Amino acid sequence: MTDETKKKINAKYERELLHGERFWPDSLFKDAIVALGIFIFLVLLATFVGVHDSPKADPSDTSYVPRPEWYFLFLFKFLALYGQIPVFGKIEWVATVLIPGIAIGLLTLLPFIDKSPQRYYAKRAMPIAIMTIMVLGMVLLTMTADVPTVAADGSGLLGNLQTVAGLIVPSLAYIAFVGMAYTLKENAVRAIAWTTALAAALMIGFTAATLALYQPAAVAVIEIPTTLADQIVAGQDLYSVHCVECHGDDGKVEEITGVEGLEGKKISIISSKDVLYTVNDASMAEIIAYGRPDSGMNPFGKAYNPEGLTRSEIDYVVTFMRYTWDDRFEAPYIAPLYPPLAEGEVPSYSVHIEPIVKRYCISCHRPGKDNNNYLMTSYEELLTTGDNASHNLISNDPTSYLLQVIQQIPITDPASGEELIGVMPPNKALKPEIVEVFVRWVQAGMPK
Ligand code: HEC
Ligand code: HEC
Repeated sequence: MTDETKKKINAKYERELLHGERFWPDSLFKDAIVALGIFIFLVLLATFVGVHDSPKADPSDTSYVPRPEWYFLFLFKFLALYGQIPVFGKIEWVATVLIPGIAIGLLTLLPFIDKSPQRYYAKRAMPIAIMTIMVLGMVLLTMTADVPTVAADGSGLLGNLQTVAGLIVPSLAYIAFVGMAYTLKENAVRAIAWTTALAAALMIGFTAATLALYQPAAVAVIEIPTTLADQIVAGQDLYSVHCVECHGDDGKVEEITGVEGLEGKKISIISSKDVLYTVNDASMAEIIAYGRPDSGMNPFGKAYNPEGLTRSEIDYVVTFMRYTWDDRFEAPYIAPLYPPLAEGEVPSYSVHIEPIVKRYCISCHRPGKDNNNYLMTSYEELLTTGDNASHNLISNDPTSYLLQVIQQIPITDPASGEELIGVMPPNKALKPEIVEVFVRWVQAGMPK
C-alpha cells in the first residue's frame, strides 16, 4: 500500500466519522425496524403454530416433575453436571448463585473492562474466544438437557461424557486463555484461535458421542383431548373404569349391588335432573375429587388418592356427564361404542368385545378388585382368569357362565345349590344387542 492510498483511505475514514451514523435517531430507528420484524414473526408463530397442549396444571399432583423452559435448560444441565463433581458438587450455591452471578456481573461490567477501541476481529481475539466457548457451551448443554446424567443401568458413561463436554473442556479453555493473556502477548491471537478451535471441536465431539450413545426410553405419548368430542370420550372411559362399579354405566343406579361393603346402599341417581340441575360443574368436580367418604365414595383427586384422577381428568368426567345426561347440553357426534354387526357377521375381541367390556365390566373386573378374581383387561385374562375360569367362556357353548349371567341367569353350585355368580353386571342388565354380540362371539369360538 502506497502512502498515497493510505492517505486517501484515512481521509475517507475521517469524512465518514464526521457525518457518521448517529445513535439517535439513526441507529435506534434501525433497531426499531428489526424489533418490529421479530414482533410480527412472533405474532405469526403464535397464531399459526402455537404451543403444544399439555395437561392443566394440578397443584395436588405430587408426581409432577418440574422442568424449566427451554431457554433455561442449559443452566439446569449445568447444575446437574456440577452436582456430579465430588465434594464441590455438594456446595450448591457455587453453581446456583456464584457462577451465574459472576457471568452476569461480567456481562454488565464488560463495557468498563473491555475499553479497547479496536473493532478488527484479530485485535479482539480474547473476547471473541471467551464468548464462542460460552455460547457453544450453552447450545450444547441445551441439546443434552434431556439426556440423564446417570444412565438407567447405573453406568456413568453418559454423565462422564457430558461432564467433559460441558464442564471440563470449557474450564480448561478458560484457564488456558487466562494463561495466554499473561504470557504470550504478541502471538496470542494464533494461540487463542487454536485453543478455541480445539476446545470447540472437543466439546462438539463429546456432545455428539453423548447424543449418539443415548437411547431415549420410549415415552408414552400423552394424548391431550382437545376437541369437545375427544374430552367426552376421555371422560367416558374414565367414568367406565372408576364410577360404573357403583353408579352404573348410565348413572342410573339407585341401589349399589356387587360392591363389597356397600351392598344394598341407596344412592342418588347421578344422571337425574335432580343432581345435574343442582350441582354445577365446579361442585361436581369437587364431589369427585373429595368423594363422599362418609357414605362410601372414596376421593378420586390425586391429592387424596395417588391412583386417582388429575384435575384435567376430573374435568373430562364432568364434561362427559354433562353432555351425555344433561338435556340442556347438546353433545357433538360421538362414534358408536362398536361398529354395528351386520347380518351373520362374526364379532371379534378387539373390535367389539374389548370396548364393551371396557364400558360395562372393567370397573369391577380389574386388578385391585376381588370379584371372583375375574380380570377382564385383556383377551388372555378374559379367557383364563376367575374362580370359574374353565366354565366362564367355552367355545360355542351357550351354557358358558359368562353368557348365562349377562342373560340374567345366576349360576348356582349344582352340589350345594348355593349361588356362585349373580347376574352381570349386578346393577343393571345389558341391552339385548350387546348380549347378542357376546353370544355370537362365543358361538364363533371367541376370535381375537
Ligand atoms: C364405591 C362406590 C362409588 C364409586 C366408585 C363412585 N361413587 Fe359416587 N357416590 C357413591 C356414594 C355412596 C355416594 C353418596 C350417596 C349419595 O349422595 O347418593 C356418591 C355420590 C356421588 C355424587 C353426588 C350425588 C348427589 O347426591 O349430589 C356424585 C355426583 C357422584 N357420586 C359421582 C361419581 C363419579 C363421577 C364417580 C367416578 C369418578 C363416582 N361417583 C364413583 C358411591 C360411589
Ligand atoms: C358392580 C361390579 C360388577 C360389574 C360392573 C361387573 N361384575 Fe362381574 N362380578 C362381580 C362380582 C361381585 C362377582 C363375583 C360373583 C358374585 O358376587 O356374583 C363377579 C363375577 C363375575 C363372573 C364370574 C367369574 C368367575 O370366574 O367366577 C363373570 C363371568 C362376570 N362377573 C362377568 C361380568 C361381565 C361380563 C361384566 C360386564 C358386562 C361384569 N361381570 C360386570 C361384580 C361386577
